[in-house]
Amino acid sequence: MTRVFSGVKPTGHLTLGNYLGAMRQWAEVDQYRSDALFSVVDLHALTVDHDPARTRRLSRQAATLLLASGLDPRLCTVFVQSHVDEHARLSYVLECVATDGEMRRMIQYREKEARERARGRGVRLSLLTYPVLMAADILAYGADEVPVGDDQKQHVELTRDLAVRFNQRYGHTFVVPRATAPKVAARVMNLQDPTSKMGKSEDSGPGIVYLLDEPDVVRRKVMRAVTDSGHEVVYDREGRPGVANLLEILAACTDGNPESLAAVHQSYGSLKKDTAEAVIEVLRPVRDRHRELCADPGYVEEVLRHGAEKARAMARPTVDTAYRAIGLLPPVTEAEPALNAAR
Ligand code: TYM
Repeated sequence: MTRVFSGVKPTGHLTLGNYLGAMRQWAEVDQYRSDALFSVVDLHALTVDHDPARTRRLSRQAATLLLASGLDPRLCTVFVQSHVDEHARLSYVLECVATDGEMRRMIQYREKEARERARGRGVRLSLLTYPVLMAADILAYGADEVPVGDDQKQHVELTRDLAVRFNQRYGHTFVVPRATAPKVAARVMNLQDPTSKMGKSEDSGPGIVYLLDEPDVVRRKVMRAVTDSGHEVVYDREGRPGVANLLEILAACTDGNPESLAAVHQSYGSLKKDTAEAVIEVLRPVRDRHRELCADPGYVEEVLRHGAEKARAMARPTVDTAYRAIGLLPPVTEAEPALNAAR
C-alpha cells in the first residue's frame, strides 16, 4: 500500500491556502487510498522568532483542525512531530549527507532569511537546516508520496536527492518519495497582494482567510480582494493574478475549473460574491467540527497519544537501519550482547 506523509507547521492560524493546497486532499482522498501519516510539525515552528506559549496553543489548534477537516484516526495516523524522537535522530544523520550549498539554495530559506534580517533579528541556524529535518520527517516513514502545495515542492526534491545520495553511498535504506499537489489551488495567493502566497506566518490579516474566520469576516476579505484594472473576467495568471486567484479558489471550492468559471461571470463583483459564498460553505463544516472537538479536549489528546505511539513504531526500524548503514555502532543491549558484538 502506498505510504503518504505530510505535515503542517504551527507558526500561525491555519489558512484557506493550507486547506485547499493540502489538508482537503489529505482528508478527502489520501487517508482512504493509502497508509497515511499527518503531523503537526512543531519542531519546524522553532526556526523563527516564536513565543513558546503561543506555539503550544497553535500546535493544539492545528491538531484539532486536522481532525476537524475530516482526518479520521481510524484511517490514518495523526501526531505531533516532537512526540516522536526519530525525526530529530534522523535529521542529524541527514545533515551529514546534505551540503551547505544545497541548503542556501532553498527559496524559502532565502526569503525567510531576508525577512528575519530586515526585522533586525538573527537568523537561527535551524532555519538553514530546516529542509533536512523535513527530509527526515518524510524518509523516516518510507513515504512514497508527499501531498503538499507548490511552495514545498523544492523541499521534497531535496528530500529525493538526499535519499538517493544516502542509498548510493551507504546501501539501500530509504524510499525515494515524490511530491503530489492538487490540480487547482496548489498556490493560493494573498487576497491583498496576489503576487505573494497566502501564508499563515505573515503579520497582515486582510488578505488571508483563516479556517476559523466567521462567515462575515470571510465575506469582507473576499469582497475587498485586490483585482486588476480590467473589467472582463478572464483566467490569466500572469496578466490578471488577482482575478485568477479568485477563479482558482472558486474552482477548488466547487470542483469546477477556472476557465469555465471565468466564462460564466460577467463582472468582478459577481465573481467575488460567488467566491465568498463558496469559501464560507467549504469552511462551515470545518468550523462546526472544530467547535465540537474543542468541547472534548480529552479526545484530541488521546488521538495524539495513540498517533505518536504508532508513528514511533513505524519510524524506528528505518532510522535504526540508517544509523547502522552510516557507520554508527549499535548499542549493546543486555538481552543480546553476543549478537551485537557479531554485528
Ligand atoms: P506549511 O505549514 O507552511 O503548510 C502546510 C501545507 O499547506 C500548503 N500551503 C499552501 N498550499 C496552497 N496555497 C497556499 N497559499 C499554501 N500555504 C501553505 C503547504 O504547501 C503545505 O503542504 N515545511 C512544511 C511542513 C512540513 C512538511 C514536512 C510537509 C514539515 N515537514 C514533511 C510535508 C512533509 C510547511 O512549512 O508547510
